[in-house]
Order: sequence, then C-alpha cells, then structure tokens
Amino acid sequence: MSSSKTKSVFVCQSCGYESLRWMGRCPSCGDWNSLVEIQRDVKGKSAKKHRQATLVKLSEVRTKEGQRHPTGIGELDRVLGGGLVPGGVILLAGEPGIGKSTLLLQLTACYLCQSAKNLRRSLLYVCGEESPNQIKIRAERLGVSIGNLLLLPTTDTDEVLQVLSREKGLSLVIVDSIQAMTTIDLSGTAGSVGQVRESAARLIDWAKHSNVPLILVGHVTKEGNIAGPKVLEHAVDTVVYFEGDQYGQLRLLRATKNRFGRTGEVGVFRMSGKGLIAVADPSSLFLTNKKEGKISGAVKTVILEGTRPLILEVQAIATQSNLMSPRRLSRGVNRNRLQLYVAVLQKHLHLPLYKEDVILNIAGGIRVEEPAVDLACCLAIWSSYKNKIIPQDWIAFGEIGLLGEVRRVREEEKRNEEARRLGYKKIISAKTVSNLREVISFLFSRGR
Ligand SMILES: Nc1ncnc2c1ncn2[C@@H]1O[C@H](COP(=O)(O)OP(=O)(O)OP(=O)(O)O)[C@@H](O)[C@H]1O
Ligand SMILES: [Mg+2]
Ligand SMILES: [Zn+2]
Repeated sequence: MSSSKTKSVFVCQSCGYESLRWMGRCPSCGDWNSLVEIQRDVKGKSAKKHRQATLVKLSEVRTKEGQRHPTGIGELDRVLGGGLVPGGVILLAGEPGIGKSTLLLQLTACYLCQSAKNLRRSLLYVCGEESPNQIKIRAERLGVSIGNLLLLPTTDTDEVLQVLSREKGLSLVIVDSIQAMTTIDLSGTAGSVGQVRESAARLIDWAKHSNVPLILVGHVTKEGNIAGPKVLEHAVDTVVYFEGDQYGQLRLLRATKNRFGRTGEVGVFRMSGKGLIAVADPSSLFLTNKKEGKISGAVKTVILEGTRPLILEVQAIATQSNLMSPRRLSRGVNRNRLQLYVAVLQKHLHLPLYKEDVILNIAGGIRVEEPAVDLACCLAIWSSYKNKIIPQDWIAFGEIGLLGEVRRVREEEKRNEEARRLGYKKIISAKTVSNLREVISFLFSRGR
C-alpha cells in the first residue's frame, strides 16, 4: 500500500509546529490557517534511524577549535568572532535587495586570495536564484576575480548533495538562497517551512560530517522574520542579520546567535557601485550632515552595538492630524515604544499629542532595540511639536520610564567618550538630568 511509504504531516508555516491532523489554528503559535500538508517519506526516515550511531569519547575528539579561517573581510570576521569554523553553519539573513549576494561574492573573492598562499582551494556557490551569467556580471561590476569559484545553478537540494559528495577539497559552500531549495521527497513548494527545513537539515548534516563551512542565505520578511521558518535559527551555528536602509548606503551586519563567538558585535559597511566597503569609523558617517542642523525634530544619540558605540540621528515630526485616531508611524524603533513616548510626553510634559500625527525615524535605516534611544526620541518629538531646535552639538541618551524619569543605561562612560571624541559639547543623560521635565527646563534656561 502506498500509505506505508509516505505519511502526511501538517506543519505550521509560521512556527514549524507539526501535527498529524489538520487544525484551523496552530496550538503552538496561535496563527490561523497556517498548517500545511507535507508528505514525508517514512522509509527514508526509518532507514536513517537504523544507521549505526557511533559513540565518541570527548578526550579523543580532535579539536578544530582555534582553526578559524578569516574570511578576509574584517568587518565580517569581527561579527563571526574571527572567521569561518570548519563545519560551522552560518545563516545570512536579510531583506530582499539588501546586498547578501554582493557580500558573499566579495567574501568568496577575499577568501580565495587569502587561502591562495597555503593551498589551492575551491568554493562552491549554489545559485538557486540567479544565473551564472548574472553572477558574472556582478563580479565584473565589483571588480573581483574569482578563479576557483564553482557555480552550481540549481534549486534541487539532492542535486547539490550529489555534487557535494563527489567534489572533494571544497573549503566553503554557499547556498543562495535556502528558500529557493527544494527536495522532491516533500510536496511543499519552495520556501515552505517543510522544504526549507528539510533542505537545510540535509545540507547542515553534510557540513557537519565533512567539516566544511556552510553559508545559507535566508530572506527576511518586512516584519524581520526569516521568511516562514524561524526554525532555521536553532539548526545553524551562527545567525547573521544584514540590515540597513535599502535606499541609503549604510549596511549593518549583526550576529544574533553565535556558537563560536560572542554576539552583539556589528560590522558596518557602505554600499557602493563597487560593492560593500567597510566603514571603520561609523559614527562619523552621521556627522556629514552637520550643516542641515537648523531644523527642529532632530536629536543625536549614541547607541551601543555590541561593544561599539555608534552615533545616530533620531528624527521626528509631530503635526496636526485630521484623523479621529492620529497616526503613529515609526521606522527603526518599535511602534510600541513610540506609543510609550507619546503617552509619557502627554502625561508628564502635557503635550496634546492626541491631536497630532507623530512620525519617528532613525536616520540611516538602522533598527534600534536599546532603550538608551528613548530620551532622544522623546526630545525629537518634543522639538518638532514645539518647533524648537536642539543644538547640533548636543547629544542625548537614556531610558525613559513611565513616570518620565531618565534612567541610566549600560556603559554610559563609553558613550560619553564617543560623544566627546566626535566633538559634542553637551551630553544629556541620567548623569545630568533625572526626568524629562528637567531636560526641558534645562533647554529653556539656555534661552531656547
Ligand atoms: N550599479 C550599482 N551601484 C550601486 N549599488 C548597486 C548597483 N547594483 C546593485 N547595487 C546594490 O546592490 C543591491 C542588490 O544587492 P544583492 O543582489 O547582493 O542583494 P541581495 O540581498 O542578494 O538581494 P536578493 O534578495 O534579490 O537576492 C541593490 O539593492 C543596490 O543597493
Ligand atoms: Mg541575492
Ligand atoms: Zn505555529
């Protein structure tokens, strides 16, 4: 009977929850209509189970640790904690068009010329989304030479695995992207949870057994999830997010998980026609528009990305609304935090923001999670509403509590240092003020 070979499972497209029967609502994440039927090859599964498991004595494990291979791109190495690890699997996630393929092509070129000294190695680039022709054009535009780069234009995971078992001496494998890969063993379409998870699992399994580093590209939706499968995040060793403003130049590379190094470090790049260029002094990027500073609604702040302080500009507009419930738009800061700023400003500074549309933006397309950005956000909204300019050489950081108090944040001294280094004259933080009202009277006392 056919039912002995395959069985149907239903997998939630949002969280990967599995069930033997269909349900209208996923009991794990609560999403509606998210369960999708997937055929699973039972025979294959049970065959796998019968594979002899081998026990390994920890003392006999030959360590590959310390065997790190720098990629040759300093900003990337910094994020990865030193470079690629044999058998380490990296998920490079980012929104469409942010520059993932560009980064990886540059990486292959740098990696190849780095290793050229000791041995001739070859890299495999599985291009499921682009033709070799397109990649060639990009390589020419970037001006990179990629002699030993092997391209494999396919979206078939099993075909990739075949090539991998045949091709010896690979020093890196890149799959661009994992959402494009499918295996015929499952019926789901490309990009579905089942396909992505299974394809990734097979490739990861190969990487672990052959000790070759593997990079998987993953697309991220606007909400910031790796499309559909969050599932991939725990299956890989390192998760690196590539983010920034598509229309601007700045790109941030951030590790959110790293089994081989610390997380929180960021790499900073600038996107140009010649590809990504490392930015050694990111704060200075934001100082170029100093002349534009005679406008209300802009406040500088200093955030910490990993161990690295970064100066940013917060921008806000508060303008009279003609809607029943005024707009609250934010980019770069969680919308719930914007609601909090509005509530605090309304309650403690008596700004009638219920009549105003409030729009908040972090310049440069950076997403800020740190509460240290609160004070600058509140001041920017205040500044726009009152139409009062906050001086260009002032900078503000601190968490805002519900009572309007300004709270200390971590590593204040580091932030102060960075602000002073870049010539900021006045630093407003928990060290200088204790609540929002004090900040405002402080601003007024300066005759502003
Ligand atoms: N001639 C050019 N000059 C400057 N920047 C360019 C040029 N061509 C492409 N770019 C930049 O490269 C980006 C596309 O890069 P890339 O294809 O690496 O992104 P990606 O993340 O791989 O996208 P996808 O999701 O489509 O695979 C563009 O959004 C643009 O910013
Ligand atoms: Mg791409
Ligand atoms: Zn779910």
